Amino acid sequence: MEKIIKEIEELKEKIRHHNHRYYSMDDPEISDAEYDRLFRHLLDLERQYPEQVTPDSPTTRVGAKPRETFSEVKHGQPMLSLENGFQDEDLLAFDARIRRFLGDDSHFDYTVEPKIDGLAVELVFEKGKLTVASTRGDAYVGENVTPNIKTILTIPLTLSQRNKTRPIPDLLEVRGEVYMESEAFNKLNRKRVQKNLPVFANPRNASAGSLRQLDFRVTLSRPLNIFCYGIGRISTPTLSTQHELMTALNEWGLRINIPHIKICKDINEVIDQCHHFEETRSRFYYEIDGAVIKVNQIDVQKRLGDKTRSPRWALAYKFKPSQETTRITKIDVQVGRTGALTPVAQLEPVEIGGVLVKRATLHNQEEISKKDIRELDMVIVQRAGDVIPEVVKVIESKRNGQEKVFIMPDQCPACGTAVVKKEGEVVLRCPNPDCPAQIMASLKHFVSKGGMNIDGLGGKTIAQLLNKGMIRDESDLYRLRHEDLMTLDKIEQKSTDNLIRAIEDSKKTTLAKFIFALGIRHVGEHIARLLSDHFKRFDMIENASREDLVYRKGKRGEDDSGIKGIGEEIAGSIVSYFEDESNIQNVRRLLGSGIQWEEVKPVFPLSSISGKTFVLTGSLNSMKRAQAKEQIIGKGGRISSSIRGGTDYLVVGEAPGSKLKKAEDLGVSILNEDEFLIILGEGHG
Ligand code: IVH
Repeated sequence: MEKIIKEIEELKEKIRHHNHRYYSMDDPEISDAEYDRLFRHLLDLERQYPEQVTPDSPTTRVGAKPRETFSEVKHGQPMLSLENGFQDEDLLAFDARIRRFLGDDSHFDYTVEPKIDGLAVELVFEKGKLTVASTRGDAYVGENVTPNIKTILTIPLTLSQRNKTRPIPDLLEVRGEVYMESEAFNKLNRKRVQKNLPVFANPRNASAGSLRQLDFRVTLSRPLNIFCYGIGRISTPTLSTQHELMTALNEWGLRINIPHIKICKDINEVIDQCHHFEETRSRFYYEIDGAVIKVNQIDVQKRLGDKTRSPRWALAYKFKPSQETTRITKIDVQVGRTGALTPVAQLEPVEIGGVLVKRATLHNQEEISKKDIRELDMVIVQRAGDVIPEVVKVIESKRNGQEKVFIMPDQCPACGTAVVKKEGEVVLRCPNPDCPAQIMASLKHFVSKGGMNIDGLGGKTIAQLLNKGMIRDESDLYRLRHEDLMTLDKIEQKSTDNLIRAIEDSKKTTLAKFIFALGIRHVGEHIARLLSDHFKRFDMIENASREDLVYRKGKRGEDDSGIKGIGEEIAGSIVSYFEDESNIQNVRRLLGSGIQWEEVKPVFPLSSISGKTFVLTGSLNSMKRAQAKEQIIGKGGRISSSIRGGTDYLVVGEAPGSKLKKAEDLGVSILNEDEFLIILGEGHG
């Protein structure tokens, strides 16, 4: 028992400490998930040993005492918090509890809305005028932040009556969440990094830090916003549902998240809606960390009443957290397929949103220095959606002096070549094209799912193949035989069979995947697709010029040129890739090893058009311009939007533009429509 008492005391102390960091300092030391675990553990113990619950336990209080620097505001009604649910069962239990409590079959439905990750405030309107605004504080007494709140432009200083049937109550206490939109948050943090100020861990800390400023001009400079979601006291309580109440607040001029407040007729609909919010979480332009479920009927809410910390009629369904705290055990440097050196934090493994995270990218030296990230630091790591995990911030208070400052090496860690840094870039690169790490990374990229998709060929096998000299580049993969593979460590007959088959199968691919697999800098899956859709043939891509690639909007009456989505940098990278003799050799070897794809469009045998560049002007009678282009490209010709030295033909339709004159000046062959059709092989003659 003594052990348990001790554990409870320690938990309380810890939670109090973290409450202080979170509520008073806006600078948490642990992730929300970790806090939730501590809190729930304490709740659990208190449930088992109710005699150990003391009135000062953090489970009976919300938040922390206000900062002394602000004047105090007593809330008319305590600003309670919400009980948390984490899974479907918690929602079902919530519904069952309510029904049990009501003890009859009274009818009610639910509202479900996003839980905004910001900080709670109360706005008091007397006779329609905003008189006092406060933070939640310890639920009973909050901080007076009236001047700060007034800087938020979406908060009305005076309410307005728009609907005759809904007069403004004499007293209205509105509750809502002050938050910062994700983009504004990122921008603020970028600015802080530049100014060597500590970054905010998340939009909520940024909002809290911005609102709780003694000098409200600081608040003014921060892009804060509000969603109101409830009320405290109201002098004329005539509204019968939560949804009606929200509509009324909205009519009085308060900002409500109306489009996202959903009415659900039962708990199963609630569950579906919660999942929907979680799945679409990343589409919100502000951070949401859960969904809030409320009983819609206000008379039922009243009957249910409150527990110490939270109302019985509402529940917060918390999404899987996207941040966790863990330790950096070591910082490694990875060399990518383009030679870029990336520092990577090796972490004590930690589960974030259901995935075990062991590494996080640190981007580059600048990022490391600005955030002052050191080996052995405790850090907050974030994994949002499919994005690579990153280190958000260091928890400096956890340092003990053992931490080691990290500096990027000036030599490639794989081949020892002196690294280079291009002017204006922050990235260090290994310039050695024979660097084993680059070759390894290229091979991994080549066989990856988006590329040649060679199933079962992992990094370890590739490393062995390289070390044993069985492969030097991608095309060597296609020459591997059973006997070769059998000499590898720890490989079985069956897996060599599978591997040989996977390699063979990978030869049948698509143009887009092949382009992606080559690993041209800046050419990811999307750009590879664009190239394949536009040019439809490999040789066209290989021979494309910058002009053919870079997107330019056509001037009046002219067509756009290039490919939408491709700018100078990507175009430059593609052109220089295909100018490099060793790349060309590599591609030839690959194509020679039997890689093939179905042509995006059937290719005609070489025609007189092949390789010739066409410019079109005026409108044609027999086909639309897009069709003409398709025909030219289908037969191996090229399209350009303007007349240049290299232009072979100008096709002139009706009402030609200024191009005609230019073509004449430059001596470009001019074709009328009939001649054009003949060249295409579709006309008479
Ligand atoms: S209703 C009685 N609705 O989440 C409490 N709260 O974890 C009624 N929050 O204290 C709260 N979005 O600060 C409600 N749509 C929403 C919310 C929301 C964010 C915050 C609020 C609350 C905390 C509980």
